Amino acid sequence: MADTDIKTEVSEAQIAVHWKEEEYYYPSEKFIAQANLKDPSVLERFAPDKFPDCFREYADMLEWFEPYHTVLDTSNAPFWKWFVGGKLNASYNCVDRHLDNYADKAAYIFVPEPENEEIIHLTYEQLYARVNEVAALLRGLGLKAGDRVTFHLPMTPELPITMLACARLGIIHSQVFGGFSGQACGTRIQDSGSRVLVTMDAYWRNGSLIDHKVNADIAVQTAKEMGQEVDRVLIWQRYPAKYSSPTPLVEGRDVIMNDLLKDYAGQRVEPEKMDAEAPLFLMYTSGTTGKPKGIQHRTGGYLAYVTATSKWIQDIHPTDVYWCMADIGWITGHSYIVYGPLSCAATGVIYEGVPTFPEAGRPWRIAEKLGVNIFHTAPTSIRMLRKLGPDEPSKYNYHFKAMTTVGEPIEPEAWRWYYNVVGKGEAIITDTWWQTETGGFLCSTIPALQPMKPGSAGPGLPGIYPVILDENGDEVPPGSGRAGNLCIRNPWPGEMQTIWGDPQRYIDTYYRRYNRDNSSKDWHDWPYMAGDGAMQAEDGYFRILGRIDDVINVAGHRLGTKEIESACLTVPEVAEAAVVPVADEMKGRVPVVYIALKPGVPPSDDIVRRVVKANEELIGKIARPKFVYIVPDMPKTRSGKIMRRVLASISNRRDVGDVTTLANPGVVEEIRVMVQGQEKQVEAGEMPEDIAKFGQTE
Ligand code: WTA
Repeated sequence: MADTDIKTEVSEAQIAVHWKEEEYYYPSEKFIAQANLKDPSVLERFAPDKFPDCFREYADMLEWFEPYHTVLDTSNAPFWKWFVGGKLNASYNCVDRHLDNYADKAAYIFVPEPENEEIIHLTYEQLYARVNEVAALLRGLGLKAGDRVTFHLPMTPELPITMLACARLGIIHSQVFGGFSGQACGTRIQDSGSRVLVTMDAYWRNGSLIDHKVNADIAVQTAKEMGQEVDRVLIWQRYPAKYSSPTPLVEGRDVIMNDLLKDYAGQRVEPEKMDAEAPLFLMYTSGTTGKPKGIQHRTGGYLAYVTATSKWIQDIHPTDVYWCMADIGWITGHSYIVYGPLSCAATGVIYEGVPTFPEAGRPWRIAEKLGVNIFHTAPTSIRMLRKLGPDEPSKYNYHFKAMTTVGEPIEPEAWRWYYNVVGKGEAIITDTWWQTETGGFLCSTIPALQPMKPGSAGPGLPGIYPVILDENGDEVPPGSGRAGNLCIRNPWPGEMQTIWGDPQRYIDTYYRRYNRDNSSKDWHDWPYMAGDGAMQAEDGYFRILGRIDDVINVAGHRLGTKEIESACLTVPEVAEAAVVPVADEMKGRVPVVYIALKPGVPPSDDIVRRVVKANEELIGKIARPKFVYIVPDMPKTRSGKIMRRVLASISNRRDVGDVTTLANPGVVEEIRVMVQGQEKQVEAGEMPEDIAKFGQTE
């Protein structure tokens, strides 16, 4: 029985990448009537010949202290500058400017994970007061514009409050996802050169109050070993006036924020007039090397971009109650829980915990109780909620008008459940394709103007001109049925500025491949390469096939295989490690680890356990491999290169192809038997594009 289950799982995930063209779904008249963007002239206003001036419309959605003089400056290509000369403040745009009209309206509604705990409404007036007090505190510690501060915060209102306090002063914040380990946080502290870490004592996750302060000690120690001192650890209390962690405070270094804030009660801090090009934040993301990259976002272009896309694509009005279930520790949360929605004066929900806690009805209960009408989540959560509670949504009286999905390809079957059951057939869906680097959505439908198509993100957004390029840099035309590398022809305001401390890596990763002339100042010569495979249908809609590099997209989160391999190699008995992506029904892809031991070391369960633990400690629980196989030897080329693609074929139950040219062809069959058993297991159909391409950038 279990066997059949597995077979269905794999083939569903497989279909996920090879589904056929789907029929269109259209928005209701009711939706269109109230939509922010329903004027079809937008496509004309943002046509290629209007670039880059079309993006003035986005900048106009913000309040500027000083106007910009140049929309796009390409003189230092490919380091584009947007809205040059303009001055503004992100905190002012997200908070202060709403006080005239929305002071008493909730900016955030905080839902603690324990269901018996009180839900907290934070009005714009209260948000304003709290952001100012925290800004005063940070200023009091001597922090100023351009300094970096690392956060390792869970999902509570203190996270956006501290972000906005930094933005008010021009301090560059770098939030590390709360689920990452202390070590992972420490390496990011070091890379960004932060002297201050902001954390929380504890938070709820899946029914337990987790000690989080303990991670701060590990993070500071890790950073120190790498040469970066942290002078201050600022600790928010999950329950004010009560310290909820068993980990003791470190004298002279650790400060309880809630206590220190008393000195700043009622203080107000003038928002700094920041240059449009001043960095707003760093967001670390995995790449093809073992070292995560600090994606650096600017103030003006980024804020304009996420504001406009929140308003036009997610259709956020100040009267809506909007809930994005992502974690603020990822780019989705920065752009579409904090900066975009607040800039649109939305009321946003912040939920502390796991969507399926205590059971799969929880999200719909929250939606009913709070009157949520815009909902945003990732395909992994949709699959999980569907599996655990397929009929739960119909038990609750909520009504969504709009729903978003992000982070992974969504297979048409899951899309239809989202549409029919979660959305009750009333809500539009925007499948938004984008990345940490892109700041905001790049491909999606405009909900009132373009029909939805399950499984396809949609065409480029206004002012975004995507193209699929083949290996030679030639365009793959729409409707050709061929896949290629998804690129964006033009710069856009939400794009990252650079990689923190490593501008060369920015050029190498995103621009080198398709650059036509590296001295050119003309943006046409610099297509942006996203690192995703995609196909474009006749109608111009893009279907995303997944990563083409060594990054695995696990449940919508990017994991670098080199990071996982480095973690495995910290176990002293391990001589070699290779990580491959494997299709998974729930999470899209999961990492599977192959290790070879040093000579004379016998394989043991203990080594496997320590490999798993090393990943949890160095990266976080999300990097936990699904399987760890100890193999007698890695399949290798004659020059000694590990053939990860052969391992990927075995784990994904595909034919390994011709292996006779390997240095050690015999080991392939040995490994196959270890993974699949004596009987050869071969799935029908081609290998998903991203897995087939895996390892090519090595
Ligand atoms: C994938 C998340 C299919 C893609 C916002 C991309 C998607 C990576 C979609 C970025 C989508 C994102 N359909 N795949 N709608 N959205 N992806 O940086 O592979 O965490 O390159 O940003 O997620 O992940 P990141």
